[in-house]
Amino acid sequence: MPRARLEVRSATVEAPPNIALVKYWGCRDPELVLPYNSSVSVTLAGLRSRTRVRFDPELSADRVVLNGAPAAGSPREAAIRMLDRVRERAGLGLRAEVTSDNNFPTASGLASSASGFAALAGAASAAAGLDLSPRELSRLARLGSGSAARSVFGGFVLWRAGTRSDGRDSYARTIFGPAHWPQLADVVVLIENAPEKAVRSAEAMQATVRTSPDYPGRLERLPGEIDRIVRAIGARDADRLFPLVMEECDSFRDVCETTRPSLDYLTPASRAVLSEVRVLNRAAGRPVAAYTHDAGAHVHVFTLDRHLRSVRRALAALPGVRATQVVRPGAGAHLVERNGRRVRRAAEGRRRRART
Ligand code: PMV
Repeated sequence: MPRARLEVRSATVEAPPNIALVKYWGCRDPELVLPYNSSVSVTLAGLRSRTRVRFDPELSADRVVLNGAPAAGSPREAAIRMLDRVRERAGLGLRAEVTSDNNFPTASGLASSASGFAALAGAASAAAGLDLSPRELSRLARLGSGSAARSVFGGFVLWRAGTRSDGRDSYARTIFGPAHWPQLADVVVLIENAPEKAVRSAEAMQATVRTSPDYPGRLERLPGEIDRIVRAIGARDADRLFPLVMEECDSFRDVCETTRPSLDYLTPASRAVLSEVRVLNRAAGRPVAAYTHDAGAHVHVFTLDRHLRSVRRALAALPGVRATQVVRPGAGAHLVERNGRRVRRAAEGRRRRART
């Protein structure tokens, strides 16, 4: 093979989105994406970003193609910043081509930044020849988008905020694997005409830190809440978990709404979904479902298999609901291909567990 050909290095990584049960919202260091509070999420099966990075000596500039179209503006800049971090670490000068697509609509509000940056961090580092541990990968993905730190891992994931100023102790890990609670389902409720985000989350959360009078109280309560939520997940106890998840979501929404200028992510249809969940729980006399949402209009409703049909039917019938999709806890990011060779997933899983 000619020499130049050998210098082309590529890797492809698939990474899933995640939904936070305890939200990351506010940074003590926005540059290093170091949060004030730890967060807990569920990694979602079946949805994924698939990203290929190819370092090529023949390229004179980086090329970024997202969902089939050349990227411009801040998505392109953010991808190049990630490439630069990887190049610096690997001592690599080559320009790269990044191609990435999602198997879910990017504008659907299903956390494409989490899956996108977890996939990009994984593909860029693998293509550059860096053999990062999942923990190192979580720290690297965090720099692209905080919630991406959690998408490296599968199942139920805890991102510890950490206390160090260099961020070395701020990374995620699996606390319970994807098979921990097979009866748990997430009904993703897609809302019609969900507005595009007016302000990027990274900026919006810092406005909350600066202006919401309720933010300090939230931070004080969270360690206890996280403890209770992790214990309820561990015990597979929906009666305890579901009310806690909704309270946490309400606290997140409260600090958004009391931010100046106010942050309002929901539409009337999203609010109707929250009300319907409350109605269903009241009618059942116990928590059969729990709502949560991120900085967007779509709502995730957790329920158990035995209530799934009735809960889904009630939600799908609400005006303004475009579609519902049932997703389960799933595996984390994984390497699909490196330098043209397919990587077997089982082997990858074993290596990951061994290193975590
Ligand atoms: O990772 P970012 O910068 O898109 O922020 C995510 C913030 C929330 O989705 C609202 C909460 C979370 O923990 O995922």
